Amino acid sequence: MSTNSLDLSGLAQQALSGGSPEILSGLPDIAELNRLASQFFSELPNGGKVMDHVPAVTDTSPFAKVAPVSFDVLPTTNEAALSALARQGFDLPGETELKKMVSAPGGIPVIGPGVASSGSSFYFLKEAVEQGRNPQLAGLGSAHPPFDVHAVRRDFPILQERVNGHQLAWLDNAATTQKPQAVIDRLSEFYRHENSNIHRAAHELAARATDAYEGARDIIARFINAPSSSEVVFVRGTTEAINLVAKSWGKQYIGEGDEIIISWLEHHANIVPWQQLCAETGAVLRVIPVDDHGQVILAEYQKLLNARTKLVSFTQVSNALGTVTPAHEMIAMAHSVGAKVLLDAAQSVSHLRVDVQTLNCDWLVFSGHKIFGPTGIGVLYGKAELLEVTQPWQGGGNMIEDVTFEKTVYQPAPAKFEAGTGNIADAVGLGAALEYLSKIGIENVARYEHELLVYGMHALQAIPGLRLIGTAAEKTSVMSFVLAGHSTADVGNALNKAGIAVRTGHHCAQPILRRFGLETTVRPSLAFYNTYEEIDRLVAVVKRLQCNAKRFTV
Ligand SMILES: Cc1ncc(COP(=O)(O)O)c(C=O)c1O
Repeated sequence: MSTNSLDLSGLAQQALSGGSPEILSGLPDIAELNRLASQFFSELPNGGKVMDHVPAVTDTSPFAKVAPVSFDVLPTTNEAALSALARQGFDLPGETELKKMVSAPGGIPVIGPGVASSGSSFYFLKEAVEQGRNPQLAGLGSAHPPFDVHAVRRDFPILQERVNGHQLAWLDNAATTQKPQAVIDRLSEFYRHENSNIHRAAHELAARATDAYEGARDIIARFINAPSSSEVVFVRGTTEAINLVAKSWGKQYIGEGDEIIISWLEHHANIVPWQQLCAETGAVLRVIPVDDHGQVILAEYQKLLNARTKLVSFTQVSNALGTVTPAHEMIAMAHSVGAKVLLDAAQSVSHLRVDVQTLNCDWLVFSGHKIFGPTGIGVLYGKAELLEVTQPWQGGGNMIEDVTFEKTVYQPAPAKFEAGTGNIADAVGLGAALEYLSKIGIENVARYEHELLVYGMHALQAIPGLRLIGTAAEKTSVMSFVLAGHSTADVGNALNKAGIAVRTGHHCAQPILRRFGLETTVRPSLAFYNTYEEIDRLVAVVKRLQCNAKRFTV
């Protein structure tokens, strides 16, 4: 049999009619199978849309699974997979079917200690009737070509890693993301051909390094639609960006009796710097409460806003719950009382289109490592007029125009905020990551991840004793939960034994977990390279734990 002309549907039919041993022994290797599968599905009459639903071909069992309709009946053998494939005729479940499935009576979990969910606000149900309500989730029907998860997985070498005898399932994307080969190669190229300090030297490599560094700044400006790349400041990450604003602009413009508003959802990085500023200046910290689903309560936020409000700083996506806050509306509300707004986009930029001009935020901050770029590099976007009036927070080389013992004249932004030798190579790597993501298309990413999240939330909430934490109507990526009778550490260990990486703990967001009566959760979090199969593996381990506990207690 020629592998070059492999016809997968013919192969499936032959296997089902009893020819499987011979055929399976003639199978090509995994890479070839993946390539052929991509080719086959992309030639389907619906333009290959089905590719989003087909799980990865694994190295142990090429036809081991297709995306299951029900996670109670997981096909585990080649034969089962092939018959499922034949039965479904490639008409795999899409979002519409999944929405029908989750709207079944009794399918809605109880949220919060003793608080019954209203049901209607489980995010994908509400989203079904309110399509387009949230500008960040709206318009996911994309002009991009179909998204092929198998192709993108091949771009991330670490996803082939084996952990405890299993293929790695990386479901810890809210903590950090994996890096595509394009980023790894770009870093290597920088160190092989361009490495130099920037801006100052009169030689070829300095010119190359400066071009690469400033080129990355341009890419970032385009990615977030900043009017000018001089509004993009390189920092170590989100934490440093928030501290920069607190310790420079904050110290200059916030005084006694002024008020700073944050939300209950915040990561510690967006709490502590403001607490410190309040302690130093006598300003007051106010907190927007959230409802039992984990969404900010806009009516309460409105009550907090007044003429003393100088700053509102909040997250666009909660790292602990996945809630997508109504950022656009919240920013407009803050501006109506003359307050400035810092938007923490650490958890949103890799999942949603983030456009600083549409949002009209005054600052936007994010970390490179959470968007497929290197660690130790991040971004502070600030409106030009704000950066201009803000004093630098650190002094040293690179940020000066002229120095005498009497006084120093600073460079204009962004150099004014980049004292010392920066993380040049990783800034270049971040540029490569954003170019890579732009090629895939953030709308494709958002749509695919949304379908994965719908599937995962549905599967998890059906497990007896499992409580989902964070069921807001607008949500992305994160599926926090606790399992009755098991510590979160136990669940994390069991998953790790099965090669599945999730985060357990307080996720540096203790206030929001305590709002739900918890100190820790298990937090699987998705990226666009995750598959339905990986979610099935997660669910199977949690179910097994839950069953074993039941057997033990009977
Ligand atoms: C919402 C949010 N803000 C801020 C941070 C801090 O990011 P970093 O540690 O990269 O500075 C994180 C990290 O998890 C986060 O999720």
